[in-house]
Amino acid sequence: MLKVEEKQPVVFSAALLAKCDEIVKRYPEGKQKSALLPILHEVQAELGWLSASAMDQVADYLDIQDIEVYEVASFYSMYFLKPQGKFVLEVCRTGPCCLVGAEKLMNHIEHKLGVKENEVTADGLFSWRGVECLAACGYGPVLQIGPEYTFYENLNEQKVDELIEDLRKK
Ligand code: FES
Repeated sequence: MLKVEEKQPVVFSAALLAKCDEIVKRYPEGKQKSALLPILHEVQAELGWLSASAMDQVADYLDIQDIEVYEVASFYSMYFLKPQGKFVLEVCRTGPCCLVGAEKLMNHIEHKLGVKENEVTADGLFSWRGVECLAACGYGPVLQIGPEYTFYENLNEQKVDELIEDLRKK
């Protein structure tokens, strides 16, 4: 369940508001609610996650109820309702990937990064979490790395270590 506890006010930049205006124009008059998903992506891209304050502002902007934003943001796993690291490692934890080592991989990532699921490393670089099927069931274990959502298949602990070290160098 969504916990609406983060009420620190946020300010949308002029560039973000201009982008929102451009997105709303794609939809017919009176159907501005249809712009909700792409606008949430833009807000998250700017702020890193969707706080309650940010979602409330989106609701005001689109002239819809706060709850309409919360229910969408809490349904889709690509929206972050807590602060995340610069890189978010999302490991598929659905059955077929678990059969080929996804849980072992998640344990390994937890140890390697020193943080539990949905926590952020002290340097702010990484967070990780398990997600449902990433639609590459024959190539597990798989993970994707946000915010660009690059995709990696047939993983093992060594490959994950290499990925993490490459990301540290970015
Ligand atoms: Fe992992 Fe489908 S079960 S990608």
